[in-house]
Amino acid sequence: MIVHVQKIVVRHAFPVVFTRHLFAPRNRALRDAVARAGGARRHRCLVLLDQGVLVAFPDLPDRIQAYFDAHAKALQLVRAPLALPGGENVKQSAAPVRRMLAALRAGNICRHSFCIAVGGGAFLDAAGLAAALFHRGVRLVRVPTTALAQCDSGVGVKNAINYGGSKNLLGTFAPPWAVLNDADFLEKLPLPLLLDGVAEAVKVAAIKDAAFFRAIERAAPKIRRRNLPVIRRILQRCALLHLDHIATSGDPYELGTARPLDYGHWAAHKLELLSKHRLSHGHAVAIGIALDALYAARTGLLAAADARRLVATLRACGLPIYAPELSRAARRGRLAVFAGLEEFRAHLGGELTLTFPSPLGSRVEIHAVDAVRMAECIAALAAWK
Ligand SMILES: NC(=O)c1ccc[n+]([C@@H]2O[C@H](COP(=O)([O-])OP(=O)(O)OC[C@H]3O[C@@H](n4cnc5c(N)ncnc54)[C@H](O)[C@@H]3O)[C@@H](O)[C@H]2O)c1
Ligand SMILES: [Zn+2]
Repeated sequence: MIVHVQKIVVRHAFPVVFTRHLFAPRNRALRDAVARAGGARRHRCLVLLDQGVLVAFPDLPDRIQAYFDAHAKALQLVRAPLALPGGENVKQSAAPVRRMLAALRAGNICRHSFCIAVGGGAFLDAAGLAAALFHRGVRLVRVPTTALAQCDSGVGVKNAINYGGSKNLLGTFAPPWAVLNDADFLEKLPLPLLLDGVAEAVKVAAIKDAAFFRAIERAAPKIRRRNLPVIRRILQRCALLHLDHIATSGDPYELGTARPLDYGHWAAHKLELLSKHRLSHGHAVAIGIALDALYAARTGLLAAADARRLVATLRACGLPIYAPELSRAARRGRLAVFAGLEEFRAHLGGELTLTFPSPLGSRVEIHAVDAVRMAECIAALAAWK
């Protein structure tokens, strides 16, 4: 028997830019990101656009066209931006991804061309999958337009659509070519969509950065009043923490059984589905964080006072800590949300591994959940004053 162990080292580097007026002709962020590819020729680009963004910014296609006209030496738009409905529906079937693939094909996008996706986290997840599949992967520039996408989903290395009633079951790991965060897109976001991003910020602060958590705690009244400069700073810090985790955790492709950034997510993913997506991802995450904070306190992992601070901060920001779906019974009286534990385990494979804050600002992994104690925590959240 001959065993040859082949090592392959692949390095990725992609810019994550925080800017404003991304499509103003004088803004060079997009041009520079694309031109990083080098070569004298013009770079072919297809723009995929979340329809929700188009509704909020009807002049966006014209502004994109004007940008490409101004940078015509470097950039070529292969067609007018293709707008498709965004939100969770874009992930619920393969049809939108197929339409994106058809547009990539019709536009003759090759592995040296660019797919530029402009939209919320759901839209970017679907567009990212299309870009990763086409020609086994074409260059993807993400332009995240929601708070959650700018601070979390849009800066990472994953994409996915839902399948067979499970969240994110079909997807790939595919680092983007560049991420361009334009704060102007946040201007028209309703408060709940801004809070979705704040929920992910509370999550990452609770397990990685106690000082950041205190900053969010102090800022909560301003967040609730929709103070955009304060929210922007929090989103930026959250994005950098996510990026740092992906770069330094040693497991960017989640080959292990742990998924540290998914604190609170086993319940959140299940709640999204149980609520038929009435609960947004971020709001479901807030509930998941609150639940696991109480559980961590009940099992001695987290000081009870810190669990209360976590719950209080979420509420002070205007985020929910409970939804009736948490208490919904499934077969034999078992709570329906508990199926989320097995689904979470199956998604990563191997042993169940959940991340909890312990102490606040750091994390610990556990491999089993006591259903009785967890149910007590759900009851406590239901009765929370
Ligand atoms: N890939 C990852 O690593 C990762 C991580 C976390 C979350 N996610 C996914 O992200 C999704 C949630 O994303 P989201 O919170 O961005 O919400 P979303 O993408 O569902 O968008 C919500 C709504 O806002 C609209 N919208 C987008 N930008 C807008 C703007 N600037 N102004 C007005 N409306 C706008 C959209 O059209 C949509 O109707 C979930 O599917 C979740 O699973 C993925
Ligand atoms: Zn999340």
